[in-house]
Amino acid sequence: MKILAIESSCDETSVAVVEDRTVLSNIVSTQVEEHKIYGGVVPEIASRRHTEAISAVCDEALKTAGIGYSDIDAVAVTFAPGLIGALLVGVNFAKGLSMSLGVPLIPVHHLRSHIAANYLAHPDLKPPFLCLLVSGGNTVIAKVSDYTKFEIIGQTRDDAAGECFDKVARQMGLAYPGGVTLDKIATVADHKKYPLPHPKVSGGEFDFSFSGLKTAVINLVHNAKQKNEEIDVPVLCATVRERVCDLLIKNTMAAAEETGFTTIAVAGGVSANSELRRRLDEECKNKGYSLYYPPLKYCGDNAAMVGAQALHEYLDGNLGDTSLNATATLPINYR
Ligand code: KG4
Repeated sequence: MKILAIESSCDETSVAVVEDRTVLSNIVSTQVEEHKIYGGVVPEIASRRHTEAISAVCDEALKTAGIGYSDIDAVAVTFAPGLIGALLVGVNFAKGLSMSLGVPLIPVHHLRSHIAANYLAHPDLKPPFLCLLVSGGNTVIAKVSDYTKFEIIGQTRDDAAGECFDKVARQMGLAYPGGVTLDKIATVADHKKYPLPHPKVSGGEFDFSFSGLKTAVINLVHNAKQKNEEIDVPVLCATVRERVCDLLIKNTMAAAEETGFTTIAVAGGVSANSELRRRLDEECKNKGYSLYYPPLKYCGDNAAMVGAQALHEYLDGNLGDTSLNATATLPINYR
C-alpha cells in the first residue's frame, strides 16, 4: 500500500511516499534558516512558508518515488499536536488531495509518528516496548502496547527536555536550534565550575521537570554578564547536557525495571543527542535490554515517519474525512 504522507506541524514542510516500512521518498524543506534570526519558530511565518512550499515538496516526493498521483493508495497527514496554523496547511492540502484522488485520508498524531520513525530503520521492532519520547515540545515515557495503543507513565511537569536545551542555549548566545548546537560544542561537564541543580520531581515516579535547571542556567549567565565574567560555554553546555541526560536515563531505566519491559525505544528530536545515545547504549547493554533509536535523518520532523505510523492507523480503522480539523494539543492516547 503506497501512502503519501504529509508533515507540517512546526517548521519543516515534508512529504514522503512510504510503502509499508520502505521509504520511497522523503522530501524535507526546512525553514530553520529563516527562524534563526528570531531565535525560535515564528508561527505566522511558519504557516506562510508551508503554504508556499507544500505543492512543490509534494511533486518532488512523487517524482523521487518514481510514481504519479494515480499510484497513491491513501493520503496521511499530521493533524495534532503542533502549531495550529502550520498544521492546518498540511491538513487542508491532504483533505483536498484525498478527495480529488478518491483515496482514504489517515490522520496521524505527531508523537505516534516520532515513535514510528523507529519502525523505518528497525524491521524487527514490534510492540510491546517502552518508549522515551523527547522532543522540543514533549518529554514522555510511554508503554507502547500495540501500534495504536499507548499509555503514558511519565511526563514532564513543565518544560520539555528540548525546550530546556533550546532556551539555555539561546541565553548563551548559541545558534537556533539550540539543542543541536549545544550538543555539538559541549566538551566535559565540570560540577565544581558549574554546580547546577539536579532536576527532580516529588510524586509521579517517572515524571520530569526541567524548568528549575533552565532557570538556574539563565541566572548563572545573567550574573556572569553583570559581573563581566567569561562563561566557559563548552563546559556549561556539557554540564547542562549531563544533568538533562541524568534524569532522562534514570527515569527510563526505573520505568523499565518496574514495568518489566526489556525493549526500549527512544524517539523525537532530542533522541539525536550524542550523550543520551552513548549513555543509554551503555546502560541497556549492562542490563541486557534491547535499545532502538531512529537514524539521525528520522529524528527530526519528517513525513516518512508519518507514513510509517499511518499504515497502522489505517489497519486499525482510524480514518478521517472532510471534517478533519487540526488540533494544537492532544495526548498520544487520544483514542
Ligand atoms: O522532534 P523535534 O524535531 O520537533 C518537535 O516535535 O518538537 O525536536 C526538536 C527538538 C529541539 O528542541 C532541538 O533543539 C532538539 O530537538 N534537538 C536536540 C538535538 N537535536 C535536536 N537536542 C539535543 N541534542 C541534539 N543533538
